[in-house]
Amino acid sequence: MDLRIKTFEEYKEKYALSVAQPEQFWGEIADTFQWNKPYDKVCEWEFDSPDIKWFANGKLNITENCLDRHLERRGNKLALIWEPNDTKERFVRWTYKELYERVCEFANALKAQGIAKGDRVIIYMPMIPEATVAMLACARIGAIHSVVFAGFSATAIADRINDAQAKAVITADGLNRGAKQVPLKRVVDEALQHCTSIETVIVFNCVDWSPNMVDGRDIWWHDAVKGMDKHCPAEQMDSEDMLFILYTSGSTGKPKGVVHTCGGYMVYAAYSFQNVFQYQESDIYWCTADVGWITGHTYIVYGPLLSGATTMMFEGVPTYPDAGRFWQVCDKHGVNIFYTAPTAIRALMAYGDDHVLSYSLDSLRVLGTVGEPINEEAWRWYHLHVGKGKCPIVDTWWQTETGGIMISGLGDLSPQRPAHAGYPLPGVQPVLLDQEGKEILENGVEGYLCIKHPWPSILRTTYGDHERCKITYFSHYKNHYFTGDGAKRDENGMYRIIGRVDDVINVSGHRFGTAEIENAINENKHVIESAVVGYPHDIKGQGIYAYVVCETMPEDQNEARAEIIETVVEQIGKIAKPEKIQFVSGLPKTRSGKIMRRILRKVAEGEADKLGDVSTLLDPDVVDEIVKGAL
Ligand code: WTA
Repeated sequence: MDLRIKTFEEYKEKYALSVAQPEQFWGEIADTFQWNKPYDKVCEWEFDSPDIKWFANGKLNITENCLDRHLERRGNKLALIWEPNDTKERFVRWTYKELYERVCEFANALKAQGIAKGDRVIIYMPMIPEATVAMLACARIGAIHSVVFAGFSATAIADRINDAQAKAVITADGLNRGAKQVPLKRVVDEALQHCTSIETVIVFNCVDWSPNMVDGRDIWWHDAVKGMDKHCPAEQMDSEDMLFILYTSGSTGKPKGVVHTCGGYMVYAAYSFQNVFQYQESDIYWCTADVGWITGHTYIVYGPLLSGATTMMFEGVPTYPDAGRFWQVCDKHGVNIFYTAPTAIRALMAYGDDHVLSYSLDSLRVLGTVGEPINEEAWRWYHLHVGKGKCPIVDTWWQTETGGIMISGLGDLSPQRPAHAGYPLPGVQPVLLDQEGKEILENGVEGYLCIKHPWPSILRTTYGDHERCKITYFSHYKNHYFTGDGAKRDENGMYRIIGRVDDVINVSGHRFGTAEIENAINENKHVIESAVVGYPHDIKGQGIYAYVVCETMPEDQNEARAEIIETVVEQIGKIAKPEKIQFVSGLPKTRSGKIMRRILRKVAEGEADKLGDVSTLLDPDVVDEIVKGAL
């Protein structure tokens, strides 16, 4: 089960093999997993439709690979450590055997509630071990989980429930976050007023509140598991059966449900986890992401558990009770591998070095980042103060759609270059294309980042709308998966991700479509029209800048801003709040009515002197007004 490459030379050999003989390469890795019926063919694909199959007709259950197969050798090994928000609360440590029993028990509870293979289940949970149990219990019985980040609003949940036609919601009464508590169940109740497909709501008691419980629909988690058997036969899944749906934003107004399937996702999650982090059997591994994002799926839950690792979950925030919390937790649990986001590093940097310097951090061996390009200053701070100059940093580039890490260093094997993700993992074939879709072969160039061969955890479709998957990812450039990112390849062939080339804004590593935020703003009754762009933000990477046209120019702009923010919070959630809102009398448009975002972006970036020619606009005067009123 050790899938680890051990030297950079070996990486080069494996990489060459993976390109020359992808089926042989992935077949050997897949054979280390538990298949209850062997697959017929490693990979069949064409990117036109797209129609992609990995390990066709193989039968498996990912939870047997995450849990059952470890019981004999690792039954008493820690599978999961949970560190609570409150430093005074006791942490949780579950062995593989305990996790197995809890998953089976809850899987039986789901069955007793009438949930079966193929049903969609929404998970809207705090960062508590039960979130992991809920995901694995769904997978155990073949139900398709769709985790919704607990910061999303009722409207956002309702949209996802309706799109997935989900049958059940698993949630909690509330959650702890720093000094605050958030009422999750109340948000779910509000969402369910706009949904008809939900038959069951299971509520975990996390904060001891007494939420409204609807008779015949809502049941407490502790009641649901009462008397349930701690063994549950695993549903036999086809390799290409859906494992989960995860909603993510794109350049249109409506988030799409990215679909991952069982076999390929399993193989790639474990392979990438072990190699990128150079995971060793005794490691304590901590990924600070939330299970509501793909990073939490692949690198808190599936990748580590498939590898028999000890994975840590953290309920709190990096700054509570103070900005040393991450480092205190690393020392407390002896964390060896630490994986976080650049935005968290920048936020902690801003609190000063003292918070990190008071901890020894000598257990750390490998550091990682994900979610957005890491700037050189943050990279150096992370390297010097957290890694004490001795830990490699793996800058991992990937996406919800890719299911796993695609371009990254492999622990201490690969050469390091700050702000560069580095080389592709074996099996990943990135290319840079120019405007015309021609492959750029030389080094030292920039282009659109595409991938020309499937890897096992590539998305298979967007739920309920295959055409959308095709248009978004496979139609820009024939026979290529289009990532939406621009990248640069240096003289040594290392990749540096520059950022999105589409209308997607990356705020603190969270993706939002500009259209999605505009739709939300336009819900406000005073708003006629709006345009949203990203601008560089010291901590968040990008901030949201909104240009808003109201029926009449608001008299009290601060009040109007607060109202618009409230609308966005209702429609999407707090994480999508615009940082800046500028009221304008009109938007710069071409004569055909298209909004000139380039101009808006330049103004937001503080580069109003570089607007270029605006004389062809419908109403050039609005540009003057916008430049004068820039925030
Ligand atoms: C960006 C997160 C630069 C990128 C796993 C991508 C990155 C989007 C990096 C996916 C990185 C992620 N360097 N940019 N190391 N990692 N991105 O779906 O723009 O939430 O397309 O997946 O984040 O975001 P998503």
